[in-house]
Amino acid sequence: MGGNRIFTGLNVILDGQPRPATVIVDAETGKITQVRDGTSARTDFPDTTDADWLDAADKYILPGIVDAHVHLNEPGRTDWEGFWTGTRAAASGGVTTVVDMPLNSIPPTTTVANLEEKRAAARGQCWTDVAFWGGVIPGNQAHLKPLIDAGVKGFKCFLIESGVDEFPCVNESDLRLAMDEIKDTSTVLCFHAELETTPAPAAPTEPAEPADPTLYSTFLASRPPSLEVAAIALITRLHAQHPALRLHVVHLSAAAALPLVRAAQAARLPLTVETCFHYLALAAGAVPRGRPEFKCCPPIRDEANRDALWAALADGTVDCVVSDHSPCVAALKRTEDGDVMRAWGGISTLGLGLGLLWTEARRRGFGIESIVEWLCVRTARHAGLAERKGRIAEGFDADLVVWDPDATFQVTKESLNFKNKLTPYEGLELTGKVLKTFVRGKMVYNAAEADGFKGLEPVGVLL
Ligand SMILES: *[C@@H]1O[C@H](CO)[C@@H](O)[C@H](O)[C@H]1NC(C)=O
Ligand SMILES: [Zn+2]
Repeated sequence: MGGNRIFTGLNVILDGQPRPATVIVDAETGKITQVRDGTSARTDFPDTTDADWLDAADKYILPGIVDAHVHLNEPGRTDWEGFWTGTRAAASGGVTTVVDMPLNSIPPTTTVANLEEKRAAARGQCWTDVAFWGGVIPGNQAHLKPLIDAGVKGFKCFLIESGVDEFPCVNESDLRLAMDEIKDTSTVLCFHAELETTPAPAAPTEPAEPADPTLYSTFLASRPPSLEVAAIALITRLHAQHPALRLHVVHLSAAAALPLVRAAQAARLPLTVETCFHYLALAAGAVPRGRPEFKCCPPIRDEANRDALWAALADGTVDCVVSDHSPCVAALKRTEDGDVMRAWGGISTLGLGLGLLWTEARRRGFGIESIVEWLCVRTARHAGLAERKGRIAEGFDADLVVWDPDATFQVTKESLNFKNKLTPYEGLELTGKVLKTFVRGKMVYNAAEADGFKGLEPVGVLL
């Protein structure tokens, strides 16, 4: 009971560059009570037990990552993922808060009763803190304000078929009803921004050779950038009518849509944009044939597109980076026949995001302070958690990650902590290793243990 936990080190990320600092945490509340300049010696805290003292030396201490886009799928599709496995995978990658998407679980998070079902399923199973997005589907506008009161951090909707029947997409009139309902709140409405505007072309008279469904290029051609451009054109048009409402584009892939985003931001509309680890770490040209593990919607595009997304992150057009961890079982991923066209779309990433981004960012000349801005500070703000998550500062939750920027590790099936061990990253060597993760001052992951979790407990709470 009582007492402090002390974290000290030469490279603590407060705001900006890493520097020597000491972080004092109230063990009871898990809050940071003080941040001191400079490292401390063990003898400076004689009343603190060894178990409550951590000297990271030259290793880094980062704020815990807030992954604002995760599909945990429980209840209802718990064979795809679950709170236990998903949050363990998160903790192993330095994520201390996940925000769960409203779809792919059954029921979807579109009413307060459904939210409560999800919370009941989550309790006692979470290794990180967990918050929830609500869903906007046709006809549920009367549920939106009650969902806000019940604690959802915002809403997600689809402008194109979502892939599951219980979460239909919305059209413009559905959106007007929803936006009218929430226009005077501080919530955020997030869009899966792909929109089909032209009818499918008429069948050619001479049947063409059917495209090979095991080629990524076949899939890529079926989801061109124009779908994202059309969706974002609609979003910014609607935004002009509700300029106070926060809108957000999830998982932007197409760089062709960036000019529309820049125009909206220049017009001072509160429009934010996230992209994902896979769009920054991968390029379509390098995807091997017959590997649906690389399938996601919108798709991974070419190298020039990837460079343009990095440039948009650098200049602030794209705010933040999330995983969109969206797993399924092997049969639906079609790993047997490699049919990318018919496979479930979604990439499994939880646990790997920081390593993926750092490996690539370092090559491109970005520092860890930029990564912290993209993965912690801005995702916390986006999810309405900026007052307690995403920074190492007095009054914030002591969500801390001890991290080695130079250590490398190989992604193996055995090292994955999520439920279905299917990921495009298997075999990669990544730089930047999470050594320990703490949620509100309590350790939830320790790389020094064989399985990373021995002797630890799922102390995550529902936010
Ligand atoms: C939009 O969808 C609603 C159902 O949610 C339907 O009643 C309406 O006719 C649709 N509007 C248009 C313009 O397609
Ligand atoms: Zn998603």
